[in-house]
Amino acid sequence: MRTFSLVNMKGGVGKSTLAVNIADVLARRHGKRVLLIDTDPQFNATQMLISGEAYVQRLDAGANTILDIFDDQPKIRMSAIAGPQVVPAVALAQVLPWDIEVPGAIAGGSLKLIAGDLELYRLEMNHGTGREQRLRRFIEVCEDRGDIDIVVIDTPPTPSTWMTAALFASDGYLIPVRPEPISRTGVDLLKGVVDRISGNFGRQISCLGVVLTITDEHYNVFGQAVQFFDNNAVWAGKRFTRHLPRRTAVAEDQGEQIRILDSDQPEAKTAVVGITAELLQRIEA
Ligand SMILES: Nc1ncnc2c1ncn2[C@@H]1O[C@H](COP(=O)(O)OP(=O)(O)O)[C@@H](O)[C@H]1O
Ligand SMILES: [Mg+2]
Repeated sequence: MRTFSLVNMKGGVGKSTLAVNIADVLARRHGKRVLLIDTDPQFNATQMLISGEAYVQRLDAGANTILDIFDDQPKIRMSAIAGPQVVPAVALAQVLPWDIEVPGAIAGGSLKLIAGDLELYRLEMNHGTGREQRLRRFIEVCEDRGDIDIVVIDTPPTPSTWMTAALFASDGYLIPVRPEPISRTGVDLLKGVVDRISGNFGRQISCLGVVLTITDEHYNVFGQAVQFFDNNAVWAGKRFTRHLPRRTAVAEDQGEQIRILDSDQPEAKTAVVGITAELLQRIEA
């Protein structure tokens, strides 16, 4: 089992988009048993896969979310039918991901989701309670269950407990970057943060690379970003050859839970398929 996180301390760089679509391509085109974990309290990745209505239905039915992984305290859930209810904390070994359909997946491929949860904001106030460790322990539970090949973790855009937890649980990390001068400077900062976390936890978290996202190839900033990453001692060789082109339809589709493989955007499709193939090579290298 391999686990990697999509990280960038900037929002709006395509972390969630890549997390969802890489996970989808791994399941459908590579026959991998994939688990996607949404650690962002804004749960965009979850929203890209599940409608608001279906999400609420699952919560009402008592389905687990990321909150069950991080929170070891009993919690209160509002139910439309039963009103407020006190729900005891769930043991990590009992936390079950949701099954997501993968139409036309090649044999063996499957996609599961640990859905995000807005209530993570409630937890965010209490740092230093050892919560950083819990996601990693859940990953170990998954390893013991033996039903997952690759874990993809989507993270929030802030250096938070959730991001630390995601990195601590990961073997590697992937950085989506928009080709803009300001975004590039943040990437060096990010590497510093990850290196520090690696050091603090005494484990190597390898940089799988940088993916340029939401790109306009014919703009100067695109070429400049390519130059920056390719001619830089730290980043040389890290940039993925494929990048995710800007297509308004990709954003629109997300509102209807349409994944890029099911879109009518051939370039975006080619891009996510190519990015995923490159990622697999790097993971398995
Ligand atoms: N290829 C694309 N073309 C146009 N818009 C995109 C593309 N990929 C993502 N977006 C949009 O850009 C915004 C940020 O993407 P998102 O994946 O949510 O980034 P992050 O998780 O880093 O905040 C979202 O509104 C999303 O719909
Ligand atoms: Mg996001």
